[in-house]
Amino acid sequence: MKVTYKPLPEKVQQGYGISRWGSAKEINQSLKELTDKNIYSIPEDKYKEICSTYYDEKCAGSKEITAEAKKFIPGGVQHNLAFNKPFPMCMVKAEGAYLTDIDGNQYIDFLQAGGPTILGSNYPDVQEEAIKLIKECGPVTGLFHEAELLIAKEINKHMPNVEMFRMLGSGTESVMAAIRIARCQTKNKRIIKIGGAYHGWSDQMVYGLKVPGTRQFLESHGIPNNIFSVIDEVRPNDLNMLEDYLKYNKRMRGGTAAVIVEPVGPESGTRPVDFDYNQKALELAHKYGALFIFDEVVTGFRVGLGGAQGFFNVKPDLTIFGKIVAGGYPAAGGVGGKKEYVSLLAAGVAGGAKKAYCGGTLAANPLSAMAGYVAIKKIAETNACVKAGAAGDKLTDGLVRLIEKHNLPYVAYNQGSIVHLECTGAMSYDFSSKSLLTLLKVLKKQDMIMVRKVAMEHMGAAYMANGIVTLAGSRLYTSMADTDDVIEDALNRFDTVFGMVEERTEAMDKQVAKYKMNKYNGVNDKKYKKAEKKLAKAEAAEAKANK
Ligand SMILES: Cc1ncc(COP(=O)(O)O)c(C=O)c1O
Repeated sequence: MKVTYKPLPEKVQQGYGISRWGSAKEINQSLKELTDKNIYSIPEDKYKEICSTYYDEKCAGSKEITAEAKKFIPGGVQHNLAFNKPFPMCMVKAEGAYLTDIDGNQYIDFLQAGGPTILGSNYPDVQEEAIKLIKECGPVTGLFHEAELLIAKEINKHMPNVEMFRMLGSGTESVMAAIRIARCQTKNKRIIKIGGAYHGWSDQMVYGLKVPGTRQFLESHGIPNNIFSVIDEVRPNDLNMLEDYLKYNKRMRGGTAAVIVEPVGPESGTRPVDFDYNQKALELAHKYGALFIFDEVVTGFRVGLGGAQGFFNVKPDLTIFGKIVAGGYPAAGGVGGKKEYVSLLAAGVAGGAKKAYCGGTLAANPLSAMAGYVAIKKIAETNACVKAGAAGDKLTDGLVRLIEKHNLPYVAYNQGSIVHLECTGAMSYDFSSKSLLTLLKVLKKQDMIMVRKVAMEHMGAAYMANGIVTLAGSRLYTSMADTDDVIEDALNRFDTVFGMVEERTEAMDKQVAKYKMNKYNGVNDKKYKKAEKKLAKAEAAEAKANK
């Protein structure tokens, strides 16, 4: 599949890292088709070979330390992005476009810590200021530091719509604060999110995660169901469904407090949207009395200094920050927006209205504020967003060429420095519906999604063994450090991995049964035996059909 990119509308200003806009309809259609196709991945014997010749032999240090970590840390790692197959890798050095592991292996780093490092990892100027600040006042005092003002002003300079900014400890917390502001302001309770979108892991936002239409049925264990009684999810890129919910909420359910979106589409653009989607969604939110929240945790200072709101020329009521806002340093979060709304965070202190409470001992510490401030200034000086975006275009175009060369069904596209490489369709299901009955479909396809996910992780493992770190095998963040040579080198490595890929022709029910046997082996004997029986049944049916 080749994505048609439309030239950007004339109103888009210069200086943004997205140079073209892919047709959402086309991409979403190709992604949907991917879920109906056979899986193309590293065959099992090749995967085993990679495990022994690369991971066991060349990554012995990582293997040993993460095995030890498993005794003290749940799953052996502290971060979701580090749960790699066949075992997590222990990194000791990050510099520019590269990571080095504990065994001295070097990788091209397209994870970029999950997005905070558009200047490239451990950018020297930011590091220098951070060290200077730590020497002077340590990382935290709990009282005001000039850096807080510097970063708030710097953000306002580039995003005039963010009239006020409060720095918080993470994107998750900032989403919580924005939702609280919206509820205080509108006196409404309901929040509409877009299916598949990620807005952190607060109780109310673990709804319709990753796969649209899955509501609280995939990831929300441990969260009381009634939390979701005021949360709705609507189909990505579907304004009609959004309006239906807004209308229904207004008429029958006490109104919507906010519509929250990821500007380039749910899960960092994994489900792309039309160029004018955001403006239209904002207009709809306002028509029905809801605030419009832009979650710019990924897009802020990545799409451009003006964020996605500058790129799309949209003026959200509230903006969520994270990742780059602390320059690649910890405690990256913040909420900003129109003064009349953001002021509610200080109501009671700075005014008479009811306060939307938020806090955080380490929020807006001088280190994070200074690192963020310096990083934003450096991004401006170096034109980092445009350079990272150009690297993303180059990488994507190269991947599309390789997909054609190897005759694979994969889908590659990008929004500037956010590059998507969907291989197995694991991330591409969509069960969005107003009816609860579709949940039956979710239950039916759940294991198949997991089979595709494991195949995707095997691709991730093969990339890593060939010197490329990706985000879960399906997303790649480029940074300013990705020169033409880095991209060229990466593409040669992708060429090698794609060359190993084979189509899996085995019937899906057999694959599902094997996946379950693997999952329950030594964990749940009853379920293991059930899966074993299913496999035997599928094999018998196959043998009969082949007679
Ligand atoms: C769009 C979006 N919103 C919110 C978050 C949560 O941010 P944090 O991980 O800082 O809590 C993320 C994290 O990846 C994100 O991508």
